[in-house]
Amino acid sequence: MSTLQAEHVYKVFARRPGDRAAAVRALERGADRDELRADGTTAAVIDASFRVEPGEIFVVMGLSGSGKSTLLRMLNGLLEPTAGRILFDGEDLTALGAREMRHVRSTRISMVFQHFALFPHRDVLANAAYGLEVQGVPRAERERRAAEALTLCGLGGWEKSWPDELSGGMQQRVGLARALATDADLLLMDESFSALDPLIRRDMQDQLLELQRTLKKTIVFITHDLNEAMRLGDSIAVMRDGRIVQQGTAEDILTRPADDYVASFVQDVDRSRVLTADAVMDDAPEDVPDGADGCTCPTVSADTPLADLCAVSARVPHAVNVTDAEGAVVGSVPQDRLVAFIGDEQRPPMACACAEVAA
Ligand SMILES: Nc1ncnc2c1ncn2[C@@H]1O[C@H](COP(=O)(O)OP(=O)(O)O)[C@@H](O)[C@H]1O
Ligand SMILES: [Mg+2]
Repeated sequence: MSTLQAEHVYKVFARRPGDRAAAVRALERGADRDELRADGTTAAVIDASFRVEPGEIFVVMGLSGSGKSTLLRMLNGLLEPTAGRILFDGEDLTALGAREMRHVRSTRISMVFQHFALFPHRDVLANAAYGLEVQGVPRAERERRAAEALTLCGLGGWEKSWPDELSGGMQQRVGLARALATDADLLLMDESFSALDPLIRRDMQDQLLELQRTLKKTIVFITHDLNEAMRLGDSIAVMRDGRIVQQGTAEDILTRPADDYVASFVQDVDRSRVLTADAVMDDAPEDVPDGADGCTCPTVSADTPLADLCAVSARVPHAVNVTDAEGAVVGSVPQDRLVAFIGDEQRPPMACACAEVAA
């Protein structure tokens, strides 16, 4: 398992090297992308810093042109940062020579692209084994490992088929299998599911989450789709015009957007599906009945989505208890809080005479 770190990484595209260094200095002083464009300089990535923990899915989300692919290409050494450092398990990738970098890239890092190009004249097994072939792994071993990876990706039995016999979703799975077969701990995925139909895409997201539960790779996943980011990301970085404008969990970004840009991004997200009980629960108050009081009402767990919590709350006559795996109460959610939270209503309840009438 690997840790990946970016420290104040910049990528500036300009014709003359001197212009690149000057652009970095201007950006450090707070200049933005548009000011530099006038001289034909593109600041693709500006001062990106983050740390991806082992076994974590780190999602980089942003509109087209925000710098996501450029950032990813620096993470695997295909592009050299104009300034800053990339550390992979503490080793500075930016300091490696071309040959060492190629070695790291072929053995420890795997990429999955949006349009995964399969070789039409090779069968599925040979396509999945391609990364190992490049590494010089002997045939029998690479075929064994490729077959295992195909099975993990739900393609067991398709080894001898040709690419054109597969659907788009299945071809993308072959791409994922190729990346997994190499045993690299770092998986870089650039819009890997963006070209798929919505249902197949969701399926692939589920499959990735499922695989990740056992494989525990360190994954950087790029997407322009916020819902995809929220489903997959343990941690999410939102990029705008080359800069990371917010980093946090899906819950952080939904409940505390850093600026109006992020807020406008998240306004259409279905909060009830992304947020879970732990986002709304109080510490277990004394006055909510629980098992010790003979209460047999259903409870939820901290990771129950609010949509499911609503269904429970509608049937329980008091706050819903949140329990841990052993059944111990760890918190509770009063119904009014739940409704206010989903409605994004921060103001206190209204004081109206009707409340007394109802009472
Ligand atoms: N090789 C390049 N030369 C000049 N400009 C580039 C190059 N690659 C990317 N860019 C520019 O950098 C910006 C970020 O691009 P990119 O990283 O591809 O964004 P994204 O993946 O978020 O769509 C864009 O303005 C793009 O035009
Ligand atoms: Mg891109």
